[in-house]
Order: sequence, then C-alpha cells, then structure tokens
Amino acid sequence: MKISSSVFWNRCLSLLRISLEPSEAVTELNWIAKHVYQASSPLSLIDKKIERMCFLRGAKHMPLQYLLGSQPFGSSLDIKCQPGVLIPRWETEEWAIKICREIKTGVPLSSIKIADLCTGSGCLALIFSQHLENCEVSGIDISLTAIRLAQENLVRNARSVGSHGSISFSEGDIFELIPGKTLPKQLDLIVSNPPYVSECEYNSNYHTELSVRRYEPRLALVGGVEFYQQIFNIAELTNSQAVVCEIGGQEQLNEMAKVVSRTNWILGAMCDSHEVVRTVIGIRRTSVDWLVLSNLFDLEI
Ligand SMILES: C[S@@+](CC[C@H](N)C(=O)[O-])C[C@H]1O[C@@H](n2cnc3c(N)ncnc32)[C@H](O)[C@@H]1O
Repeated sequence: MKISSSVFWNRCLSLLRISLEPSEAVTELNWIAKHVYQASSPLSLIDKKIERMCFLRGAKHMPLQYLLGSQPFGSSLDIKCQPGVLIPRWETEEWAIKICREIKTGVPLSSIKIADLCTGSGCLALIFSQHLENCEVSGIDISLTAIRLAQENLVRNARSVGSHGSISFSEGDIFELIPGKTLPKQLDLIVSNPPYVSECEYNSNYHTELSVRRYEPRLALVGGVEFYQQIFNIAELTNSQAVVCEIGGQEQLNEMAKVVSRTNWILGAMCDSHEVVRTVIGIRRTSVDWLVLSNLFDLEI
C-alpha cells in the first residue's frame, strides 16, 4: 500500500516527539508498519492502526516492544513482551551470551542445575537452556504475570531451546525460598537480574526514562543490595558453585562486596560494552570446575 510523503513525514514527526534521531524514527516507523501488515489487519484499518501506534509511541511514550509484542534475545529467541513484565535489555543479553560461551567451553560437567532468580519474561532461563547441554533450569519470580509470560515464552521458543534440558517456572519470593521445597535442594549455578535501581534513580528523569516509569513494573526495577545478599544466601543453602548477577555500576558493586563472604567466594566483575560495571561473578573458593569464569573478570573485588 502506498502512502503520501506527507503522511510518512507526519508519522515520523509523531515518533520524533520521544527524542529519537530522525533515522531511528524512520526505522521504528518501518518496524511498526511491518508489524501491522504482518498482523493481517483488514486493508481499510492498516493506516489507522499505524497512526495509532505512532501516537502511542510518540505522545504516550509506550515502549516499542510493548507495541510490537516481542523482543529478540540472543541469536534466535523471540521473547514475548507485555506491560507488567520487564522488557529484556541488551546488557542482559550481552553478559548472558558471554557466560554461556565460557561455561560451554570450560566447565567440565555433564549436567548443570541452574536457578534463574527474578526470571521475569524468562529470557535468562531460556538462553541458558538453549546453549547448555543437559541442564535443568528453575525460573522463579514473585510476579504471577511474569511467570505466566515466561511459560508462554517457553512454548513460543520450544524449537530454538530444543529438548536437551528441562525448564520450569514458578512463583516465589526469593526472600522466602526453601531449598528442597520451593527450589531444588542443590544447585550448580545461580543467575539473576534482580531489581537494582535505587529509589532516587527511579524518580529521576535523567536515570529512568518516562516510558520505563510509565509502562514497566516498578517491582522489576527498584531494589538494592538486599537482593545480592539474599542471592548469595541462597547460593550457600543450595551449595551452588557459581553465581552470576547483573548489577548497576561500580558503586553498587562496592556495596554488594560488603555483604558477601570473601572467605567462601572469589568475586569479580565484568563491564558491558559501554564500560559500565554490569555483572558480578562469584566463584566458590573450593570449586575447580567453575574457576574458568574468572577468565571473564574485568576487575577482581
Ligand atoms: C530486573 S527484572 C529481571 C527480569 C528478567 N530476568 C530480565 O533479565 O529481563 C527483575 C524481576 O524480579 C522480580 N522480583 C522482584 N522482587 C522479587 C522477589 N522478592 N522475589 C522474586 N522475584 C522478584 C520482578 O517481578 C521482575 O520480574
């Protein structure tokens, strides 16, 4: 279907209201148009639908992933996104791929038990299961909306994930988990992207975009050092050999390092491609199998 150049530029202008670069606005408009065409909407409604989506994006600041309904993650996962559940971020994808690669080539175990604490859409549980042979992944989240979406994402990505492992998702508060009951008794690895934005950062326009505050759940974002402390407590209770968590920068890393036992854990951190401290890696001091993860340390704590 052809549209006039004035309609095209009006739509781009709507998108430019959320301070995109002109080239980004054109790209987003193309994605929106493609999405509407692929949804096989009746021809008479296509224009109206595109217009409405540009309005929601530009004037109402709705994240593109909620409008399009999904976000690619890793090489071939397609994660369904919906308001009420955090949209997977590129930073998370980046560290998850690096960790999977290192485990695949360097951890000499024939099977691995993993917990993905604060699983949200299930993106981490899915990518680990996709990349690692013979692993059993338990994804846990306090939000039932998130757990339902994670289960949908498992079905949606069944082909990409394959059948070399098992994944289960369940509702649970990480501050109340009981190994052997609400969590496997013994684990090898804990991965987590917990809520780590401070109250102050959450309320600042500089740190947290309006679109995030308006549409993504506060529960998924606001949190602090208590989450890292609890994740390492769970690692102790389940005799986990390694812990990998996303973190919000150097300052938070320093705070976290104060609450985790150095007697039991070798701690290091990885930076993301924007040079921000983004991932903390803990390796149990007695563990030989997982020592290979220290290859990824950009800094030792
Ligand atoms: C930053 S999001 C991460 C989601 C997903 N893992 C990702 O990387 O996109 C944090 C998640 O933690 C969950 N959460 C918050 N408090 C929790 C708690 N006490 N126990 C378990 N999950 C919690 C939220 O519901 C949210 O889904």
